[in-house]
Amino acid sequence: MNLSNNKILITGGATGIGLGLAERFLQENNTVIICGRRASALIEAKEKHPSIITFECDLTKENERIGLYRWIAENHSDLNVLVNNAGIQQWMHIGADDFYRKATQEIETNVLAPIHLTALFVELPNLNTVINVTSGLAFVQLTKVPVYCATKAFFHSFTMSLRHMLKDKNIEVIEMIPPALNTDLGGKGLHDGQPAVSEFVDSVFDQMKAGKTTLTFGFSEIMANANPEAIQSAFNRMNP
Ligand SMILES: NC(=O)c1ccc[n+]([C@@H]2O[C@H](COP(=O)([O-])OP(=O)(O)OC[C@H]3O[C@@H](n4cnc5c(N)ncnc54)[C@H](OP(=O)(O)O)[C@@H]3O)[C@@H](O)[C@H]2O)c1
Repeated sequence: MNLSNNKILITGGATGIGLGLAERFLQENNTVIICGRRASALIEAKEKHPSIITFECDLTKENERIGLYRWIAENHSDLNVLVNNAGIQQWMHIGADDFYRKATQEIETNVLAPIHLTALFVELPNLNTVINVTSGLAFVQLTKVPVYCATKAFFHSFTMSLRHMLKDKNIEVIEMIPPALNTDLGGKGLHDGQPAVSEFVDSVFDQMKAGKTTLTFGFSEIMANANPEAIQSAFNRMNP
């Protein structure tokens, strides 16, 4: 991917990893559009970075995904990069009353939204890059977040097929595989003590500059390349 002079939509770009990517893409001379549900987070990002373009939407709603696509097609038809970053993570247990509700919400956000958005956005005439944010938990499960891990395994698998399907259209598909990082994912404080987003962003930009399309860092580097025994041993450590 050429890292400058793009017009990029980053879903969930007002906070965490999405914001880290947005800031870095701005520094590298790109036009950046971000979207998310919370107007307050979008306004805060815009106050920090006035050139950022914002759009409020809930990607779990099919009509809002279509609304986002139509707004882009009408106002930013030169958009050439889609970053499927928005995601949620919730602790849940199969025996809890709210298990199915939470599971549904997570599947809608982490699976249905990005695959539908991708299907819409590949119709844009200039689209040449899709970046999907999966997770090290696509490769080994943390059983406190069982559906999250499954959504990321799905999204990893889908990304591998997508790369193959989009070859003919000359659309590059990049998979970003973060390890646990210090963001508010899952709720404030749960990821304290994890590496900073800026370390991850520095690393993935170096990897993209080197032409890589599968971007790992720390724990996700180890898990994405681990043999079954190493994965089982990580599973045992993570789920005592
Ligand atoms: N942090 C980690 O440890 C880690 C590790 C591996 C992978 N990841 C992945 O990295 C991505 C970003 O997560 P993060 O860690 O940066 O957490 P985050 O700060 O909570 O970011 C998630 C973003 O997604 C947006 N979002 C969530 N649901 C949405 C919806 N229905 N419609 C539109 N936007 C929505 C949120 O904005 P609103 O709430 O305002 O909608 C938020 O800006 C996720 O896909 C996550 O799974 C994170």
